[in-house]
Amino acid sequence: MRTCIAGWGAAVPDGRLTNADLEARVETTAAWIVERTGIHERRVAADDETTASLAVAAGAAAIKRAGCTPDDIDLLLVATATPEQPIPHTGAFVGDGLGLRCGSFDLNVGCAGFIYGIITGSALLQAGHLRRVLVVGAETLSRVVDPRDRGTCILFGDGAAAVVLAPADDDGPGILGWDTGCDGSAAYLIGIPAGGSRMPATPDTIDEGLQYIKMQGQEVFRRAVRAVVDSANLALERAGVTTADIDWFIPHQANLRIIEAAAHRLGIDRDRTIVNIDRFGNTSAASIPLAMAEAADAGRLRDGDLLLMSGFGAGMSWASAVLRWGQA
Ligand code: UT7
Repeated sequence: MRTCIAGWGAAVPDGRLTNADLEARVETTAAWIVERTGIHERRVAADDETTASLAVAAGAAAIKRAGCTPDDIDLLLVATATPEQPIPHTGAFVGDGLGLRCGSFDLNVGCAGFIYGIITGSALLQAGHLRRVLVVGAETLSRVVDPRDRGTCILFGDGAAAVVLAPADDDGPGILGWDTGCDGSAAYLIGIPAGGSRMPATPDTIDEGLQYIKMQGQEVFRRAVRAVVDSANLALERAGVTTADIDWFIPHQANLRIIEAAAHRLGIDRDRTIVNIDRFGNTSAASIPLAMAEAADAGRLRDGDLLLMSGFGAGMSWASAVLRWGQA
């Protein structure tokens, strides 16, 4: 049995943060941001929007698109690095917002989280007892970005997207191969230092801005291209296909230069690469499903198309999946 994507949906805040807005805030230029990242604007959550509220909107759209109701969902997975609050898990709020009473859990694997989510959801579906699994990638990175740190505030944005996973035939659409990995010795490259058991939040940590995301961008960049290429190649090999067979490459939208370098090394041309970082920035766990949902809504993904998705980020973690598009 395979597991296909039966429905999809996305939700982004209306609020926009443009490069011109950032020029007014930190020492940067719109030209630098576009040249070094490919980003023109990002979406920013309003005060009354949260990771869970965006996830609920995306999840409801995915359930509707799948032609089912919340009662048909047997498990909810929420991939996020910006949880609603430390306890309880974000899935509790998202499930409540969607009217679910099924089990739920969060996956905090940074920008690779959504791929981990569909791999896990798919495996649990294949284990039996479940009919539909809702997987959401949702972030409000604007809440953890230091507005004065030009190394991160230019990059990150808010958003959510979701898919409904459903069983498919052995030779039908679905996940054909995947890879996951994490090199925790590089955990120091991206993180929020304070607020956990290692460094509980105190007035001092807040004075030092340790509640904000810290990133060694250049080193992350260097490792990211290698991680995407190696992981993507493993997933392709396990799926028994090559990049020549791939119709669409949907990479994590981290930085246009990373996307282009990885695609180039994989031998995938621009026409087959889905890019929306220019309008949304880096939305971490939401970025791959957001790019996928947009492409699906635009009619770019056709039944039978072969998709290669690859994400990497905090951890340093990575994950890739090869998926045959189509509904069972
Ligand atoms: O989502 C998963 C994890 N995250 C990522 O994948 C992010 C990966 N990293 C990146 O996307 C890039 O490293 C950044 C966009 C964060 C930075 O771009 P970069 O090309 O790696 O810049 P850099 O850090 O090497 O800095 C180059 C220069 C430096 O000046 P000097 O030392 O050459 O004079 C920086 O101080 O650019 C300067 N700089 C800036 N200038 C204008 C750094 N940030 C900015 C800025 N505006 N915002």
